[in-house]
Amino acid sequence: MTSLTGIQKDSFIDDGVLVLPKFFSEGDCDSLRKRMGQLLDDYEPKGNGTVFSTTDSTHHEDDYFLTSGDKIRFFFEDSVVDSEGASLELSLNKAGHAMHDLDPVFSSFVRQPKLAELAADIGFVDPLLLQSMYIFKPPRIGGEVVWHTDHPFLWTDPPSVKGFWVALEDATIENGCMWCLPGLHRDRPRQRLKRSKSGGLEMETLDSTPFPTENKIPLEAEKGTVVVIDGLLPHWSGPNTSSRSRHAFTLHLIERSAHYSDDNWLQRSPEMPLRGFAD
Ligand code: FE2
Repeated sequence: MTSLTGIQKDSFIDDGVLVLPKFFSEGDCDSLRKRMGQLLDDYEPKGNGTVFSTTDSTHHEDDYFLTSGDKIRFFFEDSVVDSEGASLELSLNKAGHAMHDLDPVFSSFVRQPKLAELAADIGFVDPLLLQSMYIFKPPRIGGEVVWHTDHPFLWTDPPSVKGFWVALEDATIENGCMWCLPGLHRDRPRQRLKRSKSGGLEMETLDSTPFPTENKIPLEAEKGTVVVIDGLLPHWSGPNTSSRSRHAFTLHLIERSAHYSDDNWLQRSPEMPLRGFAD
Protein backbone atom coordinates (compact mmCIF):
# COMPACT_ATOMS: atom_id res chain seq x y z
CA MET A 1 0.00 0.00 0.00
CA THR A 2 1.53 3.29 -1.02
CA SER A 3 -1.25 5.78 -1.50
CA LEU A 4 -5.00 6.15 -1.26
CA THR A 5 -7.36 6.00 -4.21
CA GLY A 6 -9.71 8.89 -4.93
CA ILE A 7 -12.59 6.77 -3.60
CA GLN A 8 -10.75 6.15 -0.33
CA LYS A 9 -9.96 9.86 0.07
CA ASP A 10 -13.60 10.79 -0.58
CA SER A 11 -14.79 8.13 1.84
CA PHE A 12 -12.55 9.50 4.60
CA ILE A 13 -13.89 13.01 3.95
CA ASP A 14 -17.50 11.73 4.06
CA ASP A 15 -17.23 9.28 6.98
CA GLY A 16 -14.31 10.56 9.07
CA VAL A 17 -12.94 7.02 9.21
CA LEU A 18 -11.05 4.76 6.83
CA VAL A 19 -10.05 1.11 7.34
CA LEU A 20 -6.90 -0.04 5.52
CA PRO A 21 -6.33 -3.81 5.86
CA LYS A 22 -2.81 -5.22 5.48
CA PHE A 23 -1.18 -1.76 5.68
CA PHE A 24 1.55 -3.17 7.91
CA SER A 25 3.08 -6.63 7.59
CA GLU A 26 2.80 -9.29 10.29
CA GLY A 27 6.56 -8.80 10.78
CA ASP A 28 6.12 -5.07 11.40
CA CYS A 29 3.47 -5.79 14.02
CA ASP A 30 5.55 -8.51 15.67
CA SER A 31 8.60 -6.24 15.87
CA LEU A 32 6.62 -3.63 17.77
CA ARG A 33 5.19 -6.27 20.15
CA LYS A 34 8.65 -7.69 20.74
CA ARG A 35 10.09 -4.23 21.45
CA MET A 36 7.30 -3.47 23.91
CA GLY A 37 8.08 -6.76 25.64
CA GLN A 38 11.69 -5.59 26.06
CA LEU A 39 10.57 -2.22 27.44
CA LEU A 40 8.37 -4.06 29.93
CA ASP A 41 11.31 -6.24 31.00
CA ASP A 42 13.14 -3.03 31.97
CA TYR A 43 10.14 -1.44 33.71
CA GLU A 44 9.82 -1.63 37.47
CA PRO A 45 6.50 -0.29 38.73
CA LYS A 46 6.74 1.87 41.82
CA GLY A 47 4.03 1.37 44.42
CA ASN A 48 0.66 0.41 42.97
CA GLY A 49 1.28 2.17 39.63
CA THR A 50 -0.96 4.70 37.91
CA VAL A 51 -4.30 3.62 36.53
CA PHE A 52 -5.68 4.83 33.21
CA SER A 53 -9.45 4.77 33.03
CA THR A 54 -11.93 6.69 30.90
CA THR A 55 -14.75 5.90 33.31
CA ASP A 56 -12.90 7.33 36.33
CA SER A 57 -10.87 10.50 35.82
CA THR A 58 -8.73 10.45 38.99
CA HIS A 59 -5.64 9.74 36.87
CA HIS A 60 -5.99 13.26 35.48
CA GLU A 61 -4.67 14.59 38.76
CA ASP A 62 -1.67 12.32 38.72
CA ASP A 63 1.66 13.98 37.96
CA TYR A 64 2.92 10.70 36.45
CA PHE A 65 0.22 11.05 33.77
CA LEU A 66 0.45 14.84 33.37
CA THR A 67 4.18 14.77 32.64
CA SER A 68 4.12 11.74 30.34
CA GLY A 69 3.83 13.72 27.06
CA ASP A 70 7.54 13.47 26.33
CA LYS A 71 8.28 10.18 28.08
CA ILE A 72 7.59 6.44 27.95
CA ARG A 73 5.32 5.59 30.86
CA PHE A 74 3.01 2.73 31.78
CA PHE A 75 -0.58 2.87 33.01
CA PHE A 76 -2.54 0.05 34.63
CA GLU A 77 -6.10 -1.15 34.10
CA ASP A 78 -8.35 0.00 36.93
CA SER A 79 -9.56 -3.53 37.60
CA VAL A 80 -6.01 -4.77 38.04
CA VAL A 81 -6.45 -5.10 41.78
CA ASP A 82 -8.58 -8.12 40.97
CA SER A 83 -5.82 -9.84 39.03
CA GLU A 84 -3.10 -10.02 41.63
CA GLY A 85 -0.06 -11.88 40.41
CA ALA A 86 -0.81 -11.33 36.72
CA SER A 87 2.11 -10.42 34.45
CA LEU A 88 2.63 -6.78 33.50
CA GLU A 89 1.35 -7.38 29.99
CA LEU A 90 -1.87 -8.76 31.45
CA SER A 91 -2.30 -5.83 33.86
CA LEU A 92 -1.48 -2.76 31.81
CA ASN A 93 -3.92 -0.51 30.01
CA LYS A 94 -1.37 1.35 27.91
CA ALA A 95 2.10 2.84 27.49
CA GLY A 96 2.58 6.44 26.33
CA HIS A 97 3.11 9.02 25.06
CA ALA A 98 6.42 9.56 23.21
CA MET A 99 7.69 6.12 22.21
CA HIS A 100 7.81 7.38 18.62
CA ASP A 101 10.53 9.91 19.48
CA LEU A 102 12.35 8.14 22.31
CA ASP A 103 12.63 4.55 21.17
CA PRO A 104 14.45 3.64 17.92
CA VAL A 105 12.16 0.72 17.04
CA PHE A 106 9.00 2.77 17.49
CA SER A 107 10.59 5.72 15.68
CA SER A 108 11.44 3.53 12.66
CA PHE A 109 7.94 2.05 12.68
CA VAL A 110 6.19 5.44 12.47
CA ARG A 111 8.74 6.97 10.11
CA GLN A 112 8.16 4.48 7.31
CA PRO A 113 7.60 6.54 4.14
CA LYS A 114 4.18 4.96 3.56
CA LEU A 115 2.85 6.46 6.79
CA ALA A 116 4.02 9.96 5.78
CA GLU A 117 2.35 9.34 2.41
CA LEU A 118 -0.87 8.32 4.13
CA ALA A 119 -0.79 11.52 6.21
CA ALA A 120 -0.39 13.59 3.02
CA ASP A 121 -3.22 11.66 1.38
CA ILE A 122 -5.66 12.56 4.16
CA GLY A 123 -4.78 16.22 3.83
CA PHE A 124 -1.82 16.99 6.09
CA VAL A 125 0.54 19.63 4.70
CA ASP A 126 3.26 19.45 7.37
CA PRO A 127 2.26 17.04 10.15
CA LEU A 128 3.77 16.82 13.62
CA LEU A 129 3.85 13.47 15.42
CA LEU A 130 2.18 14.46 18.67
CA GLN A 131 1.44 11.31 20.63
CA SER A 132 1.98 7.55 20.51
CA MET A 133 0.27 4.94 22.64
CA TYR A 134 0.63 1.17 22.93
CA ILE A 135 -2.70 -0.24 24.07
CA PHE A 136 -2.73 -3.68 25.72
CA LYS A 137 -6.48 -4.35 26.23
CA PRO A 138 -5.70 -7.52 28.19
CA PRO A 139 -7.99 -10.57 28.13
CA ARG A 140 -10.90 -10.41 30.61
CA ILE A 141 -9.81 -7.12 32.21
CA GLY A 142 -9.24 -4.70 29.30
CA GLY A 143 -11.73 -1.95 30.10
CA GLU A 144 -14.26 0.11 28.16
CA VAL A 145 -13.14 3.36 26.50
CA VAL A 146 -16.18 5.64 26.65
CA TRP A 147 -17.58 7.52 23.66
CA HIS A 148 -15.33 10.46 22.87
CA THR A 149 -13.57 12.33 20.11
CA ASP A 150 -9.82 13.01 20.18
CA HIS A 151 -9.78 16.72 19.33
CA PRO A 152 -10.99 17.84 22.81
CA PHE A 153 -7.92 16.17 24.34
CA LEU A 154 -5.39 17.45 21.76
CA TRP A 155 -6.90 20.81 20.91
CA THR A 156 -5.60 22.84 17.99
CA ASP A 157 -7.02 25.88 16.25
CA PRO A 158 -8.20 25.04 13.65
CA PRO A 159 -8.95 21.41 14.63
CA SER A 160 -6.31 19.21 13.00
CA VAL A 161 -5.71 16.05 15.02
CA LYS A 162 -6.10 12.73 13.26
CA GLY A 163 -5.28 9.27 14.55
CA PHE A 164 -3.69 6.20 13.01
CA TRP A 165 -4.85 3.13 14.94
CA VAL A 166 -2.84 0.00 14.12
CA ALA A 167 -4.10 -3.52 14.94
CA LEU A 168 -1.09 -5.43 16.27
CA GLU A 169 -3.43 -8.40 16.81
CA ASP A 170 -6.82 -9.20 15.29
CA ALA A 171 -9.43 -6.89 16.86
CA THR A 172 -12.95 -8.33 17.04
CA ILE A 173 -16.19 -7.47 18.81
CA GLU A 174 -15.34 -10.14 21.41
CA ASN A 175 -11.94 -8.71 22.36
CA GLY A 176 -13.09 -5.09 22.33
CA CYS A 177 -12.59 -3.59 18.88
CA MET A 178 -13.39 0.07 18.27
CA TRP A 179 -16.82 1.23 17.18
CA CYS A 180 -17.61 4.58 15.57
CA LEU A 181 -20.35 6.87 14.25
CA PRO A 182 -19.47 7.53 10.59
CA GLY A 183 -20.21 11.05 9.42
CA LEU A 184 -20.55 12.57 12.88
CA HIS A 185 -17.12 14.21 12.61
CA ARG A 186 -19.01 17.17 11.18
CA ASP A 187 -20.57 17.90 14.58
CA ARG A 188 -18.96 20.55 16.74
CA PRO A 189 -16.84 19.40 19.69
CA ARG A 190 -18.89 18.58 22.79
CA GLN A 191 -16.14 19.02 25.37
CA ARG A 192 -12.61 20.22 25.97
CA LEU A 193 -10.01 18.97 28.44
CA LYS A 194 -7.85 21.75 29.88
CA ARG A 195 -5.09 22.13 32.43
CA SER A 196 -6.62 23.99 35.37
CA LYS A 197 -5.02 26.77 37.43
CA SER A 198 -4.69 24.33 40.33
CA GLY A 199 -2.35 22.18 38.22
CA GLY A 200 -4.81 19.36 37.52
CA LEU A 201 -7.18 18.99 34.61
CA GLU A 202 -10.79 19.96 34.06
CA MET A 203 -13.26 18.88 31.40
CA GLU A 204 -15.25 21.77 29.99
CA THR A 205 -18.66 20.86 28.53
CA LEU A 206 -19.39 22.74 25.30
CA ASP A 207 -22.51 20.80 24.31
CA SER A 208 -24.18 18.30 26.62
CA THR A 209 -26.10 16.49 23.84
CA PRO A 210 -25.16 12.80 24.01
CA PHE A 211 -23.80 11.15 20.86
CA PRO A 212 -26.61 9.36 18.94
CA THR A 213 -25.11 5.89 19.15
CA GLU A 214 -27.96 3.81 17.64
CA ASN A 215 -26.16 3.49 14.30
CA LYS A 216 -22.72 2.68 15.62
CA ILE A 217 -20.60 0.35 13.51
CA PRO A 218 -17.83 -2.01 14.66
CA LEU A 219 -14.33 -1.53 13.30
CA GLU A 220 -13.18 -5.12 13.37
CA ALA A 221 -9.60 -5.19 12.10
CA GLU A 222 -7.16 -7.94 11.20
CA LYS A 223 -3.58 -7.72 12.40
CA GLY A 224 -1.71 -5.15 10.28
CA THR A 225 -4.80 -3.01 9.57
CA VAL A 226 -4.61 0.76 10.00
CA VAL A 227 -7.80 2.59 10.97
CA VAL A 228 -7.58 6.32 10.21
CA ILE A 229 -9.80 8.41 12.49
CA ASP A 230 -10.69 12.08 12.18
CA GLY A 231 -10.15 13.98 15.44
CA LEU A 232 -13.84 14.86 15.59
CA LEU A 233 -15.19 11.35 14.88
CA PRO A 234 -16.94 9.79 17.93
CA HIS A 235 -15.52 6.37 18.80
CA TRP A 236 -15.84 3.85 21.61
CA SER A 237 -14.58 0.41 22.55
CA GLY A 238 -16.14 -2.11 24.86
CA PRO A 239 -14.41 -4.21 27.49
CA ASN A 240 -12.40 -7.22 26.39
CA THR A 241 -14.57 -10.11 27.51
CA SER A 242 -12.56 -12.72 25.62
CA SER A 243 -9.55 -14.82 26.51
CA ARG A 244 -7.41 -13.07 23.87
CA SER A 245 -5.53 -9.79 24.21
CA ARG A 246 -6.10 -6.94 21.77
CA HIS A 247 -2.79 -5.09 21.37
CA ALA A 248 -2.91 -1.92 19.27
CA PHE A 249 -0.65 1.02 18.56
CA THR A 250 -1.88 4.54 17.95
CA LEU A 251 -0.21 7.65 16.58
CA HIS A 252 -1.85 11.07 16.64
CA LEU A 253 -0.80 13.82 14.25
CA ILE A 254 -1.50 17.54 14.19
CA GLU A 255 -0.83 20.17 11.54
CA ARG A 256 2.30 22.21 12.27
CA SER A 257 0.63 25.47 11.24
CA ALA A 258 -2.36 24.95 13.59
CA HIS A 259 -2.11 26.55 17.02
CA TYR A 260 -1.55 23.93 19.72
CA SER A 261 -3.08 25.15 22.98
CA ASP A 262 -0.74 25.59 25.91
CA ASP A 263 -3.49 24.43 28.28
CA ASN A 264 -3.72 21.02 26.60
CA TRP A 265 -2.79 18.19 28.98
CA LEU A 266 0.02 16.96 26.72
CA GLN A 267 3.00 19.32 26.79
CA ARG A 268 6.58 18.74 25.68
CA SER A 269 9.61 20.17 27.46
CA PRO A 270 11.52 22.82 25.44
CA GLU A 271 14.38 20.33 25.05
CA MET A 272 12.12 17.90 23.19
CA PRO A 273 10.04 19.78 20.63
CA LEU A 274 7.52 17.97 18.42
CA ARG A 275 8.93 16.52 15.24
CA GLY A 276 7.54 15.62 11.85
CA PHE A 277 8.15 12.46 9.84
CA ALA A 278 11.46 13.69 8.46
CA ASP A 279 12.77 15.94 11.28
FE1 FE2 B 1 -9.65 8.16 21.02
